[in-house]
Amino acid sequence: MSKITVDARACIQCGACVRVCAIADVFEIRDGASVAVRPERCWGCGQCVSVCPVDAIDHDAFPLEKCPLIDNGRQPTGEQLAILMRARRSARTFAERPVPRDIVRDLASVSRWGPSAQNSQDVDWIAIDDRARITEMSKATLDEIRRFSHLMRHPVLRGVLRLFLGRELTKSAGRNPRVGEELLDRWAKGLDPVFYNAPVVLVGHTRSRRAFARDDAIYAAYNLMLAAERQGLSTCQIGIFQMTAEHSNKVRRMLGLSEGRTAQVTLVLGYPLHPFRRLVPRRMPELVWNPR
Ligand SMILES: Cc1cc2nc3c(=O)[nH]c(=O)nc-3n(C[C@H](O)[C@H](O)[C@H](O)COP(=O)(O)O)c2cc1C
Repeated sequence: MSKITVDARACIQCGACVRVCAIADVFEIRDGASVAVRPERCWGCGQCVSVCPVDAIDHDAFPLEKCPLIDNGRQPTGEQLAILMRARRSARTFAERPVPRDIVRDLASVSRWGPSAQNSQDVDWIAIDDRARITEMSKATLDEIRRFSHLMRHPVLRGVLRLFLGRELTKSAGRNPRVGEELLDRWAKGLDPVFYNAPVVLVGHTRSRRAFARDDAIYAAYNLMLAAERQGLSTCQIGIFQMTAEHSNKVRRMLGLSEGRTAQVTLVLGYPLHPFRRLVPRRMPELVWNPR
């Protein structure tokens, strides 16, 4: 349980900690000061310490020396942020240049600043930078695709697949039967159509069967992708491997995932062989106010 105390002499009863902690509901104003009346409900997000205008809250997980003041002057402008977002592209060509492990470690570390359901902070990473193992994983993915395409040709087995994989995935595979064949063709020509010969593959994983685990992993991955872009590295999400990792025990074993952990997102990372020079336009999302 968290140890939280409020310095009653410093507290100005502004109620900010009470209001920001609306779901866990740890604080109440009592006898002229805020008091952590339900510390057992704290889920460790640190918003109370982050918001208190007079630094009156002492939370054992958030000592003030680990919680620097937010310096708005050091934040990127809206335009700088948008340029970074637009500059991030999915790379499928990589230079034959290894990515130093320290850089990969730093990128995994910034992934933690994303939101997570109930502040679970549960996304961890597996990094693979061994070429032979990456090739093995590509091969396993293509073996699965081959098996899958074979089963999809059989009307009864297609129905069984739908039960296991869900209607959407089976329908989408049925709509694009050529995709699997094209990947297999490229593999036969000595190319790597799964990981594009990237020097690093990153797999974000979480506890299995936790609500919103995929969402947490995607936020973490997107942070990592933006940070990589800022460092001159490129990334691409590899959904095709993700699907394999979800359904193949062999791939699970290859990843060394422990019991109770599930792969949620897969990325490739490396220095781009052909860096992108121009930002391109994108469809403007529709925005509807107060629809009926
Ligand atoms: C959920 C998801 C799965 C993806 N899976 C793959 C994949 O398996 N292989 C691949 O080359 N790109 C994959 N991509 C990358 C998309 O093709 C890419 O984001 C899209 O074409 C837009 O290009 P951009 O990221 O350069 O803007 C995936 C992207 C997402 C969001």
